[in-house]
Amino acid sequence: MSGQGSKRVAVVAGDGIGPEVVESALEVLDAAGADLDLVQVEVGLGRWKRTGEAMGDEDLETIKRCDCVLFGAITTPPDPGYRSVLLRLRRALDLYANIRPFQSQELDFIIVRENTEGLYSGLEEVGEKEARTMRVITRQGSERIAEAACDMAAKRRRLTIIHKSNVLKSDWFFLQVCREVAERRGVPYEDMLVDAAAYNLVRNPRRFDVLVTTNLFGDILSDEAAGIIGSLGLCASANLGKTHALFEPIHGSAPDIAGKGIANPVGAIRSAAMMMEWLGDAEMAHRIEGAVSRALAAGVRTPDLGGSGRTADVTEAVAGYLRSEERG
Ligand code: NAD
Ligand code: IPM
Ligand code: MN
Repeated sequence: MSGQGSKRVAVVAGDGIGPEVVESALEVLDAAGADLDLVQVEVGLGRWKRTGEAMGDEDLETIKRCDCVLFGAITTPPDPGYRSVLLRLRRALDLYANIRPFQSQELDFIIVRENTEGLYSGLEEVGEKEARTMRVITRQGSERIAEAACDMAAKRRRLTIIHKSNVLKSDWFFLQVCREVAERRGVPYEDMLVDAAAYNLVRNPRRFDVLVTTNLFGDILSDEAAGIIGSLGLCASANLGKTHALFEPIHGSAPDIAGKGIANPVGAIRSAAMMMEWLGDAEMAHRIEGAVSRALAAGVRTPDLGGSGRTADVTEAVAGYLRSEERG
């Protein structure tokens, strides 16, 4: 898959179904004719069990030297002593914008999630009698995520700022900054409390276009949105910073189905398409998206979508369409 001038991609397959869906995405990239130099990086729970370390400084340096990262999923045990590798990566690469498109035949909206602060500040303490997490919302962090969301909304319909400003002063601040940016950019916007947004997403998802919100709300609303689209296994994301980028399905390592060969690879394949677009090949991204749509429309589906297909069947169908296009 590599030649002169090819882009260097760090591949982090991870744990559980991570390696299964990443293998699928790589096969599809190959079928699409992607010219990539792949650098496998082993980090995550498996690595931690093997070596006592989930990710080393040298892994981070390897990743930083690559053009971008294609990521599967990582298991994070709920142990206060264990630091999530994904959060470390988002922080270390300053991947502040988590772009999560939700598309189906009927729906098309994007959640733009702030990815570095809020309740994910890491400022926490666990005592005998109480535990605290500091929710940090900065002007700079809010401005840059609002700018990213406005970039998208300016080309689409409008922006919805999602917050809980009736309770949280930090979200009142987030809302003010997002409003200022939308006003300055001339982007049509509205705002909505997060609980109402959770309700409206189920009741009337078509009313949404680009949603911008803080870190934890964006995490939760994303999985809700995936449920509305039909499955977590369909949904892709880009984690973008000024200089680095990481592409991953929004789902986790799904230990309940890992190793069974039935994980839906579409989220990972679509993440690979987002990566190709970011690398400058929008035409290839479009071809991959088209091949995914054809496979789904032909009824090649994994059990999460009510089908009886396996990961390999979906992969083969998508790759097959791409190869036949190349020949035709
Ligand atoms: P999960 O997203 O792994 O799974 C939730 C449910 O969705 C499960 O029933 C699973 O079988 C199903 N599912 C997820 N992806 C699927 C796919 N591609 N095809 C078919 N079904 C799919 O969430 P969880 O079970 O709460 O978390 C498992 C582990 O993953 C935890 O350790 C969590 O911290 C981690 N996690 C990692 C990431 C990441 O690395 N990006 C994201 C979310 C969760
Ligand atoms: C996601 C995941 C991560 C998050 C976890 C694994 C740290 O749920 O990417 O949606 O909360 O951001
Ligand atoms: Mn999540």
